[in-house]
Amino acid sequence: MQALYDSCWLRYEQNIRNDLSRWDTIVAKGTSPVFRAALAELKRGLFSMLGIEPEVVSEPKSTNAIWVGTLKEEWLKERLAGEKMTQLVHSEGYMIQSDDRHSTSCIYITAMTDQGVLYGVFHFLRLLQMKENVDDVSIVEQPSNKLRMINHWDNMDGSIERGYAGPSIFFADGQFVKQKQRIKDYARLLASVGINAISINNVNVHKLETRLITEEFLPEVAQVADIFRMYGIKLFLSINYASPVEIGGLSTADPLDRDVQRWWKETAARIYRYIPDFGGFVVKADSEFRPGPFTYGRSHAEGANMLAEALAPFGGLVVWRCFVYNCQQDWRDRTTDRAKAAYDHFKPLDGQFRENVVLQIKNGPMDFQVREPVSPLFGAMPKTNQMMEVQITQEYTGQQKHLCFLIPQWKEVLDFDTYAKGKGSEVKKVIDGSLFGYQYSGMAGVSNIGNDPNWTGHTLAQANLYGFGRLAWNPDLSAEEIAREWIVQTFGDDPDVIATICWMLLASWNIYENYTSPLGVGWMVNPGHHYGPNVDGYEYSHWGTYHYADRDGIGVDRTVATGTGYTAQYFPENAAMYESLDTCPDELLLFFHHVPYTHRLHSGETVIQHIYNTHFEGVEQAEQLKKCWEQLEGKMDAKRYQDVLERLTMQVEHAKEWRDVINTYFYRKSGIDDQYGRKIYR
Ligand code: GCU
Repeated sequence: MQALYDSCWLRYEQNIRNDLSRWDTIVAKGTSPVFRAALAELKRGLFSMLGIEPEVVSEPKSTNAIWVGTLKEEWLKERLAGEKMTQLVHSEGYMIQSDDRHSTSCIYITAMTDQGVLYGVFHFLRLLQMKENVDDVSIVEQPSNKLRMINHWDNMDGSIERGYAGPSIFFADGQFVKQKQRIKDYARLLASVGINAISINNVNVHKLETRLITEEFLPEVAQVADIFRMYGIKLFLSINYASPVEIGGLSTADPLDRDVQRWWKETAARIYRYIPDFGGFVVKADSEFRPGPFTYGRSHAEGANMLAEALAPFGGLVVWRCFVYNCQQDWRDRTTDRAKAAYDHFKPLDGQFRENVVLQIKNGPMDFQVREPVSPLFGAMPKTNQMMEVQITQEYTGQQKHLCFLIPQWKEVLDFDTYAKGKGSEVKKVIDGSLFGYQYSGMAGVSNIGNDPNWTGHTLAQANLYGFGRLAWNPDLSAEEIAREWIVQTFGDDPDVIATICWMLLASWNIYENYTSPLGVGWMVNPGHHYGPNVDGYEYSHWGTYHYADRDGIGVDRTVATGTGYTAQYFPENAAMYESLDTCPDELLLFFHHVPYTHRLHSGETVIQHIYNTHFEGVEQAEQLKKCWEQLEGKMDAKRYQDVLERLTMQVEHAKEWRDVINTYFYRKSGIDDQYGRKIYR
């Protein structure tokens, strides 16, 4: 039967390497659900790729075999006594080792825990999918980040806030979906790239979803948690801070109120009766009209700690989001700067949060724009657990109609040096916990999947989900390595296919940036749905997102000398770099400075000419993306080829719209002609 949906990078396509057929035996003794899931995956992959159906035995025979188990098992430990084993220190790490010492040829996939074994199995299958030589392997892998989390913004009516790939796979019509096979396949995809935590409902918790923590829905939440548990993934829920009032019959949600505290403790106990390993709560409080501790004159530390105390006896976490700002700003007020909000709210609270609270900070200070500086909050709170939130779903980066491979963007953020403890204090060291010894930290990504047959709307957007998991596991992988892995597993190993798609992916972020909002200023999108150009769409609104273009110039002055003073939130090295026009990087110029259109960039171009150039070039590059793809006709199934072609065709048309709206806008504002005389509508 034709599968109803794509298997993404777990295609396990037939791989004719006869020499692997010798593996007719798997030696395995584990019995836990996670272990059984690992074994099932291994068998599935071997059968699908190599056509072998190995016998699973618990007592080793003297044949070629794949040995799978944890190092708690003596029989494996004996065989493996050697150097590498001692390197394995992380409970989720694993080792893959080939061995031909015992007159037979064996592969060992081993770890400290069953979860590690699962990751080891997926890595081994990846090697096979990539047709790597597995006769001689010796791999030890351990994750950099403790929390590797996906956040869903799914609502129970089936809609997804900022979802571009169809409705939710969890909910429909105010209920959980009945058929849960797809959730299981999703768990497999996530585990294959090392994801170990998931929140399944929107951070904006509406009326019905507020009741997910009640007896009414907990039995079904537990069923979903059971599925994810098999794949080593802990389930979290987003909660409504006003729950004690909305569903608890209390008159307040004040975190210092005893009844409120008791209510949350009872709620936590109830949840853990259904889900003994429940991950905890994700909380959006006092943000964009959501309730929170400010209503009661309490701080966010008081607000978060109350929940943390309720979860602590069960080992649960509070993931507290830092996306807190005044969204009722007056555009006439030039003293308020939304970019400063998260730092201003949270930095003074350093050291006041309980150890089971993690602050989740968006990568930039605004909101997932195509280009933003790194949030200055990273590294600024040595005594408070921090993790980073990125947006896999492409709200501001083309909504999965445009190709935009986001791994290069996230890598720039991870590699950014905060100077929090002097040189070498990169964001990746803040969020992996190593810089300050955080107990909990890591990365969260807002999901880009939905019920579409290809999961992500744009087939090539699958690479963003894949890459998120791989980067959260190992932030030192290059964008190119990740792209290649994904391409080979998804489209096979034809060198033309690899080279072409690799180029397309790696060029795509820059292309998207070229034809959209220039030089880091952001926005310029249609209000509400955020698709398509509208330069002044937010210019006179209450959201705090302005570009201040007039006839002479454009940009937001965030300097200490003459602007909002935002630059001072960075450690001195970065503060100085952004403060000065001489050292501020071109791509962020308009985020930090208001300059005349005739200002010359380090590139040598004026701002206005840069805007014209990048917008003409961006469209040509989008056309190039489409041409490249057309070369691949016949090199993959027609369905995927056509789907992507349709999106790329749309991208070219919409890129032209962006080009013309932006160029005309700035021509009309500045009155300055394009130095190359290209067509700009008057
Ligand atoms: C953005 C997005 C919202 C979302 C919010 C958040 O503003 O447009 O839909 O709720 O981020 O991260 O909470």
